[in-house]
Amino acid sequence: MNTGEQQLNGFIHRFVPADAQSQTAEQETLPILLLLHGTGGSENDLLELGQMLVPSAALLSPRGKVLENGMARFFRRLAEGVFDVPDLKLRTDELVDFITAASAAYHFDPAHVIAVGYSNGANIAACTLLLRPGVLSAAVLLRPMVPLIPEPLPDLTGTPVFISAGQMDPIVLPRETERLEILLQQCGAAVTTCWHRGGHALSHEDVDQAKAWLSAQVSR
Ligand code: MLT
Repeated sequence: MNTGEQQLNGFIHRFVPADAQSQTAEQETLPILLLLHGTGGSENDLLELGQMLVPSAALLSPRGKVLENGMARFFRRLAEGVFDVPDLKLRTDELVDFITAASAAYHFDPAHVIAVGYSNGANIAACTLLLRPGVLSAAVLLRPMVPLIPEPLPDLTGTPVFISAGQMDPIVLPRETERLEILLQQCGAAVTTCWHRGGHALSHEDVDQAKAWLSAQVSR
């Protein structure tokens, strides 16, 4: 198993192959989880979460290329919650190119990539859904915002999206979560939203609910 730090298309990343030992016929449809960390995170942050969410799935975990005061992010922002839209678009395309390159390098089917993003990582995952429909087969968005509103809206008919939000989140206010939920529904996505009493930080509840939701997607 090769899990060391690697570079592909300029992305430092980790790739953990699917656990061949526990592959069964049923598990041949296991997804590749694209793990996207929050501001100040790294390619290592969400590996454990990914393993908990879909045990034995392959994990692809890039580090955001943008630095904000030394903290890694997936795109530039002008202020808290105010995004640099041209940079966001460029970085979204870069991420999609990275997925394509990784699928060739690690021999996985790009049609089975499910994003699992937290905060800034959830925002670029949401942007990938909105700007590059068809790249992600599903997405788990933990504490996401509306990254942008594309015109025209993309067709995301039937794309499963799980949103996990904190009622007391000071960074992503409940109305922002609701805006994203409505936007994705307008695009035709099958959105499931779970609310938690907590704030921006993740809890066991997030993990348990995301795991149950993913298990239903994987066994379809
Ligand atoms: C963002 O910039 O993507 C959001 O404000 C979330 C964050 O990283 O704080």
